Amino acid sequence: PTDTGRVLSIQSHTVQGYVGNKSAVFPLQLLGFDVDPINSVQFSNHTGYPTFRGQVLNGKQLWDLIEGLEENQLLHYTHLLTGYIGSVSFLDTVLQVVDKLRSVNPDLVYVCDPVLGDEGKLYVPQELISVYQQKVVPVASMLTPNQFEVELLTGLRITSEQDGLTACNTLHNAGPRKVVITSAFIEGKLLLIGSHKKTEEQPPEQFKIEIPKIPAYFTGTGDLTTALLLGWSNKYPDNLETAAELAVSSLQALLKRTVEDYKRSGFDPSTSSLEIRLIQSQDEIRNPAVTCKAVKY
Ligand code: ATP
Ligand code: PLP
Ligand code: MG
Ligand code: NA
Ligand code: MG
Repeated sequence: PTDTGRVLSIQSHTVQGYVGNKSAVFPLQLLGFDVDPINSVQFSNHTGYPTFRGQVLNGKQLWDLIEGLEENQLLHYTHLLTGYIGSVSFLDTVLQVVDKLRSVNPDLVYVCDPVLGDEGKLYVPQELISVYQQKVVPVASMLTPNQFEVELLTGLRITSEQDGLTACNTLHNAGPRKVVITSAFIEGKLLLIGSHKKTEEQPPEQFKIEIPKIPAYFTGTGDLTTALLLGWSNKYPDNLETAAELAVSSLQALLKRTVEDYKRSGFDPSTSSLEIRLIQSQDEIRNPAVTCKAVKY
């Protein structure tokens, strides 16, 4: 599986701005994947703006699309990618999609960003937590929670690096061979923590990447991180460290450009949430210079 593949990406779509599929599809295409997006919602803009409008896809409508693909024998995917999911019925249908895709391709890699919330705030109905714990985590190949999501999924508080590593072990025992805590604020530092359980018998290989914190708030970066981790871990299936270094390095170059562009147009980037400069950063996505190095535990 070292060449590229075909990704089914079930995520949000925004008409303007870059979250969900809008922040995942283009980078995966740049990395050489065929990407087939299913838009779980279509909103005018992301939910951080004063208002938003649009439509929400339900589980039955999702299944209809899957049946359409199946009727034409178009269900062969190498990867499934999911992000924000707003209801239990939709999440249950996603679980049916996982089964269906694995019945066609038993080697399907399911990359799951278990979006529940951030910084102590839940964005989804409470009932989703147990569905993720009991049904989704067990079938995921790679899981990309943030610190708060790890806490919700494992019931463990993460206040030290050791807590983060312990929580990764707990998640491995529930299913996924690859776990990446995409952001954790621990002892004054912004960290990505990765953990790869290569075999049943051996302990996981674990590492961290320290990320220089930019004094600004971005949207779409979590979704972009997961997409880049999918992309680079397909190229380096046995080296999650390298995949994460490439993903974080691309992201930092993109965030630097984003902040500079806002500043150049006379806007103070620390005052509101910033739309990422995704298209303008295509060279850094295709060919990142590794600026952020992993440290092994
Ligand atoms: P999810 O969106 O899935 O819940 P998350 O909360 O980890 O995940 P972000 O907080 O957007 O998502 O962080 C993802 C990545 O984006 C981090 O690993 C980091 O590389 C980058 N990032 C986001 N905000 C900043 C920032 N202010 N300074 C530096 N890097 C940032
Ligand atoms: N999807 C939608 C519709 C959103 O409005 C948002 C954020 O506002 C996201 C996803 C999350 O983006 P991220 O967590 O990658 O910043
Ligand atoms: Mg976050
Ligand atoms: Na995440
Ligand atoms: Mg997020």
